[in-house]
Amino acid sequence: MYKTHTCGELRASHANQTVTLAGWVHNFRTFGGVVFLVLRDRFGITQIVTDPDKFPEAAKAIEGLKNEWVVQVEGLVRMRPADQFNPKMPTGEIEVVARQVTVLNPAKAMPFVVSRDDEEVDENLRLKYRYLDLRRERMKRNLVLRHEVVLFMRKYLSERGFIEVETPALFKTTPEGARDYLVPSRIYPGQFYALPQSPQQLKQLLMVAGIERYFQIARCYRDEDLRGDRQPEFTQLDLEMSFVERDDVLALMEALFTEMLPAVAPQKKLMASPWPRLTYAESMERYGTDKPDLRFGMELYNVSPIFAASEFIVFKSALESGGQVKCLVAPGCAGYTRKQLDNLTATAKELGAKGLVTLALTAEGPKGSGAKFIGETEIAALSKLTGAATGDLVLFVADSAKIVNKVLSALRSRFGNELKLADPSVMAFAWVVDFPMFDWNEEFQKWDAAHHPFTMPRLEHLDRFETDPASILSDAYDMICNGYEMASGSIRIHRRDIQSKVFKLLGISDEEAQFKFGHMLEAFEYGAPPHGGMAPGIDRLVMLLADEPNIREVIAFPKNQAGRDVMADAPSFPDERQLKELHIKIVE
Ligand code: AMO
Ligand code: AMP
Repeated sequence: MYKTHTCGELRASHANQTVTLAGWVHNFRTFGGVVFLVLRDRFGITQIVTDPDKFPEAAKAIEGLKNEWVVQVEGLVRMRPADQFNPKMPTGEIEVVARQVTVLNPAKAMPFVVSRDDEEVDENLRLKYRYLDLRRERMKRNLVLRHEVVLFMRKYLSERGFIEVETPALFKTTPEGARDYLVPSRIYPGQFYALPQSPQQLKQLLMVAGIERYFQIARCYRDEDLRGDRQPEFTQLDLEMSFVERDDVLALMEALFTEMLPAVAPQKKLMASPWPRLTYAESMERYGTDKPDLRFGMELYNVSPIFAASEFIVFKSALESGGQVKCLVAPGCAGYTRKQLDNLTATAKELGAKGLVTLALTAEGPKGSGAKFIGETEIAALSKLTGAATGDLVLFVADSAKIVNKVLSALRSRFGNELKLADPSVMAFAWVVDFPMFDWNEEFQKWDAAHHPFTMPRLEHLDRFETDPASILSDAYDMICNGYEMASGSIRIHRRDIQSKVFKLLGISDEEAQFKFGHMLEAFEYGAPPHGGMAPGIDRLVMLLADEPNIREVIAFPKNQAGRDVMADAPSFPDERQLKELHIKIVE
């Protein structure tokens, strides 16, 4: 037996027992001729002390240890003197006097200090030695939290009649808007599997199969530009239900997340219950984005009506060309320096604005680039609409709605961070509903599915396909939290005629639809039930619950920011024979 107890287990009640512990040397210090060694395993840390008079050999053995060696210690549990209790350590009332020490495996010097996870270490170094990084407390905590989140979901859904069904990773293209990862077939020269961007098609086919309530902790693969909240492979709680309407799905998910929060992250508070619901249009109008951080206000205001008769050329020309003027009020920022204002303007320009009009409401009157052009009555109207008062800074962008929203929503998040407007302990879950069905793709001059092509358009909008596709709303919905999109879902099309209409508008020909989704279209002719579902991203959820800045911190073995696995050094070159078997030639 390697151990009788874990390193997190011993308490005062174990005093005078003989125990065996095994783990890693966390750290040690010598004090008055006695060595204090901290032994660590996954469950905690325990202080080991030497008694050179009684157990000289053990004392000697401990002196020869180094950090991160794997050792086994047999010894006697004893109470620490009361003035040496360590309330920060669950095992802080006791220590173990080493009687026998066995080195199970020595270790090389570590590339970074494992026992101190507050120490900044270059991320690529951490990722190269991820197995050492994962020994650190912070990473271990994140893995445990992730496990608890998934366990809660599995249990919650199982208790409500859902079953978990695995679906293949080697499949056919399932578009979610990213590029596919392709896997060449050895048996069929020139043919490829695609790794699914989500199990979307398969879960819909499971509904046709009568499963009725399905979920899966599902891996998704998407070749897209990486960001802090995106990885090439990530995990969803993928879920689908039959005979449901939108509100059935939302109610289930809201209850699941609401009950999960106190169970897995009791230090976090829900912002509101029931969760707020915004329509897409309302969210864009008030926040300029479909995933606003609702932990703080600072809404955008459309002030076009106030400036309808303005002669200020910046506003006038935007309004004349069909654009808008919107503003944002930064509370208490009227005293911003020239440099700070230039910096904001530079950010606005980087995001595509032509500039940024500033209006500082100071005790000495209005200042900033807009002061000369914005009159007293306009300021009064602005104050009435937005609540802007002396001491505040008003920022205006005049442009197309798209640019105005993009720029001001980014500035809003920036102020949220800089002014610390968002309470880090709050989880501001909310629903965004009534998405448009289609987005116009300027580059390719075609319609794209705003969610995915299997999303149900509003039945009452079916007659707009030929006349006004932009105004068609869908039964798609998003779950948002703290500025992130946590989940997406929709009620699906279960009627072949509607699916054809959608494909047609998206420019997917009958042949292409048949080639890509023939199995789906056919399945839908064999009695597909009405169905819908959604998929929260587990990585993003755990990231927020763990207060981590990106999802790499909550994934055991993530790719780095450049999409590489720096530990295994992947992707890598296959050998010639493999390529030949796969009928592939690399073209330089
Ligand atoms: P969608 O594509 O919106 O919907 O994805 C759902 C959720 O998955 C997470 N997510 C990601 N997380 C990490 N890295 C990525 N690259 C990444 N991409 C997406 C997000 C997102 O909200 N099949 C549909 C769901 C449905 O309709 O049921 C789908 O995949 O949290
Ligand atoms: P200009 O007339 O280009 O010198 O711009 C005058 C002021 O208006 C400067 O502070 C610019 O940053 C700002 N500005 C110019 N165009 C826009 C715009 N479309 N929206 C907001 N501010 C703008």
